[in-house]
Amino acid sequence: MAKQGEIVVGLDIGTTKVCAVVAEVKSSGGDFSEIEILGVGNVPCKGLRKGVVANVASTTESIRQAIEEAQNMAGVEIRTVFAGIAGSHVRAQTSNGVVAIASNEVTRSDVERVLENARAIPIPTDRQILHVLPCEYLVDTQDGIREPVGMSGVRLEAKAQLITAARSCVENVIKCAERVGLTVADVVLEPLASAEAVLTEDEREIGVAVVDIGGGTTDVILYVDGGIVSANVIPVGGMSVTSDIAAGLRTPMAEAERLKHARGCALGRMVPDDEEMEVPGVGGYPARRVPRRVLADIIEPRVEEIFAVVRRQLEESGYLEQLSAGVVLCGGAVLMEGMTELGEEILGMPVRRGYPVGTRGLTDLTHGPQFATAVGLARYGARAIFLAQAREEEPAPMPASKAVGKEHSRDQGMPSDRPGFWGWLKAAF
Ligand SMILES: Nc1ncnc2c1ncn2[C@@H]1O[C@H](COP(=O)(O)OP(=O)(O)OP(=O)(O)O)[C@@H](O)[C@H]1O
Ligand SMILES: [Mg+2]
Repeated sequence: MAKQGEIVVGLDIGTTKVCAVVAEVKSSGGDFSEIEILGVGNVPCKGLRKGVVANVASTTESIRQAIEEAQNMAGVEIRTVFAGIAGSHVRAQTSNGVVAIASNEVTRSDVERVLENARAIPIPTDRQILHVLPCEYLVDTQDGIREPVGMSGVRLEAKAQLITAARSCVENVIKCAERVGLTVADVVLEPLASAEAVLTEDEREIGVAVVDIGGGTTDVILYVDGGIVSANVIPVGGMSVTSDIAAGLRTPMAEAERLKHARGCALGRMVPDDEEMEVPGVGGYPARRVPRRVLADIIEPRVEEIFAVVRRQLEESGYLEQLSAGVVLCGGAVLMEGMTELGEEILGMPVRRGYPVGTRGLTDLTHGPQFATAVGLARYGARAIFLAQAREEEPAPMPASKAVGKEHSRDQGMPSDRPGFWGWLKAAF
């Protein structure tokens, strides 16, 4: 069982900001329950383009500042972080694994072996596997199993989503963190982290999509029957809206950003016709008064375009009809008025804003949807630490009998991206 007092740090390296969340792992009744937030560091970042590190020096500096801020607030020294990654280089594909059950009853070690087996597929050398996410397990002929441990049978199969990323993009994230003297325990897909922070168990069960609209990317992840069935990163976000406003109203980018925050609305018809606002000029032109409706009419088509791409992805995934809990929106861009209304119109299902849950402590500092990824990374890390410790305390597994199916391909030297991850993780904390 995880000991009270274990510290975990989520590091969200976003296109507009770096956010570090320091938290303490809380467990109750022998299960991971929640995290207590002890400190938060949130600083602007200009080193990324569309979710990918494009300037190592400037990203490193933002990480340094965010970590310092979080460290001072929490009063603990930060050495190890769970870092996020996004960008259109991320891909998801399905993969199955099959093993023989070692002792007629599925153990945690059998589950680990079957997921290792699902991981053992050839991928190009410039890519690496980030996650093997189980969708469902089959024990002998019985399908749809979420938790196979303890079930009787002779054959265990896993259907999983394999998330891969460009190796260089992952290395750049690690490099920036290491330059600040940090160790990266794991690089985590950002929408997976956001979902960890904002979803309820019920939503995962009945089917839900999380759409994280940040500054440079829109991340989409789908849960059906409690498991992840698809994940995607679209390289467009709130910064495109700001650029449209700057061009459309002929105003500096900083003013466009300010106007978007203060007066923006994603649905033109929600804005009364008589509202006006002052728009500063660019290149020496004087400020002028413009109907607020004009601002909304610039924003609406761009947001509509983002939701239309999301809708297309939901359709192409084949799971559109199974998303009974609808869509949960997070990321800073969803703070704008009219986002849920326009989302419901275009996606044709219920849409709500997602705020981080499952936390206590300094929750006021991480309450907004823009903190979903950072809080989710801390929660993801807390769960990883908890599981590593639970695994450690488990009795030694029975000797594994010969595996079936693809298991042999691992013996043929298929590279594993994170050899001995659990052992290493334990050592890091
Ligand atoms: N009140 C607001 N109204 C409208 N937009 C907002 C508001 N607050 C923040 N945003 C927008 O949210 C975006 C930043 O969101 P977020 O912090 O989630 O992005 P990020 O994590 O840095 O980027 P990404 O996840 O794309 O790499 C910016 O485009 C910003 O303009
Ligand atoms: Mg983000």
